[in-house]
Formats: sequence, structure tokens, C-alpha cells
Amino acid sequence: MTAVLHELSGDGVLLLRINRPEAKNALNQDVRQQLAMHFLDATGNSAVKVIVMTGSQEVFVAGADIKAMAAASPIELLLRQNQTYWDAIAHCPKPVIAAVNGYALGGGCELAMHADIIIAGENATFGQPEVRVGIMPGAGGTQRLARAVGKFKAMLICMTGQTFTGREAAEMGLASKAVPDAEVLETALQTARTIAAMPPIAIRQIKEVMLAGADAPLETALMLERKAFQMLFDSEDQKEGMQAFLEKRKPVYRGV
Ligand code: CAA
Repeated sequence: MTAVLHELSGDGVLLLRINRPEAKNALNQDVRQQLAMHFLDATGNSAVKVIVMTGSQEVFVAGADIKAMAAASPIELLLRQNQTYWDAIAHCPKPVIAAVNGYALGGGCELAMHADIIIAGENATFGQPEVRVGIMPGAGGTQRLARAVGKFKAMLICMTGQTFTGREAAEMGLASKAVPDAEVLETALQTARTIAAMPPIAIRQIKEVMLAGADAPLETALMLERKAFQMLFDSEDQKEGMQAFLEKRKPVYRGV
């Protein structure tokens, strides 16, 4: 069975659907490799403007595959080089939206946090329960979660393994917004279509500057922003966007 289903719409939205229902979409090497391959392909495919990743109504991803790692040695884990698969997602220059219904646990919560925007079902179940199986988050959970919700909430979540709902995720700043469960995918796709219609170079710069700036001193980050802002004035889409405003018409962006 294909572990990651994919579908590219005419408006530039690539939908990736994790599809391993027998294991609650747990991340084994097959799922990781297929996800990474789709993100690398999308990076080089100009027809893809925005990526939406999702699971099913019942589960986004229930974490790393515990059966596939229970007996692993540290060297086996090292040789799996899983960070290369995560890097393909983290370094994707195009906007990524996670549409989360059901369980987003451990590696599933970490996968969602690789996205730029998270649309969560109100009743989705987020958490970093690794500590309950004797380990700790290993794909960014201690770092991305703390940056998203702050040290004190992140410590509580990682040290107790307690789960929280999509509504709570949105309240604490982990999800961009929570919507009724049945509306998650359509909200994510609608958001993706809105972003896909924006000038692609500006979108790419927003993502690059926001992510790079978050790890830089404020002055450096503001300089990065200024340079990118100035650089956009060399794009045809900047001329088109402002001209269309002045002529009171809808802009037509071409990504140049
Ligand atoms: N790995 C491997 N298999 C998993 C899995 C996982 N993370 N999560 C669920 N499954 C499997 C179950 O073993 C079960 O398989 P069998 O039918 O062969 O027994 C099948 O999926 C159905 O699961 P349940 O019967 O448990 O379904 P449920 O509805 O009763 O519970 C659940 C759902 C709450 C998600 C529960 O399955 C669960 O707690 N899963 C584990 C969650 C977890 O601990 N995730 C963290 C993993 S470690 C990690 O992610 C490390 C990291 O940071 C990268």
C-alpha cells in the first residue's frame, strides 16, 4: 500500500496524505522516505506552490513506529539517518500547511511542527508522550515546541506526556487555528489556495526570513528582513501588485 498519497491540483496545491491506517500512520522508514521524496520533488517542481500534509479523520500521525525502534541499538538509529528525511521537510522553501485531525503524538506532533501553518481539528489530540515509553522527543519536540509555546508549557507537555486538544493547541500558539473537525482539510486547502494565488517570490522570502530570523539576534533578523524587502522591488510581481492597486484591478502574479 502507498504510505503517502499525493495529489496536485491545478491551482498549485500539493496534497500529501499519510496512509498507514493499520499502524495509526506511525512513521516507519517507508513513510519517512516517501514524505521526504515528495518534499524534495515539490521543491523542484514549479507547478507546486503550497503543500498541505494531512492524515485521516482519525489520526494525523501517532508518532515514530515504536515496533521498528523498540530493539534498535544507538548505532542502528544513527545509521538510519532519519534527520535527512526530516531536513527535506524543514528545508522546503515552499509554504507547508499541516491539516491535523485525530492523534498528532510524538513524531506526529513534531511533523506538524515542521509546517508553517497548522490547522487543527478542535478535538485533535496533540502531545509528546515519548517519556511514557522511556525516551524523549527526538525530532525537534523539545526545541520547536518550546519555541512555539514557551519553556514552561513545553516542559509540562514533554515531562508528563499529557495530551492536549486542537483547541488548546491553538490557544497556546501551537496551532494557527482550530476549526470543527469536519472542516479541517477544507480550511487548510482554502488557506493553501489563498497563498498559492500570492506572489511566490514574496511568499518564499517571508518564510525564509521568518525562519532564519527566529534563530538570529533581532538586529541581524531585521537586517535580513530589510534586504529581502528591498530585493522584492526587483521582481515583476512587485511592479504588477502595486500597479494593479493603483489601477484598481486584480493583480496577475507570474512568479518572476
Ligand atoms: N508505533 C507503532 N505502532 C503503533 C503506534 C506507534 N507509534 N501507534 C499505534 N500503533 C499501532 C498499535 O500497536 C496497533 O497495532 P496492532 O493492531 O498490531 O496491535 C494499531 O496501531 C492500533 O493502535 P491501538 O490499538 O493502540 O489504537 P487505539 O485507538 O487504542 O490508540 C493511540 C491510539 C492513542 C494513538 C495509541 O495507539 C498510542 O498511544 N500510540 C503510541 C503513541 C506514542 O507513544 N507515540 C510516540 C512514539 S515515540 C516517538 O514519536 C519518537 C520521536 O519523537 C520521533
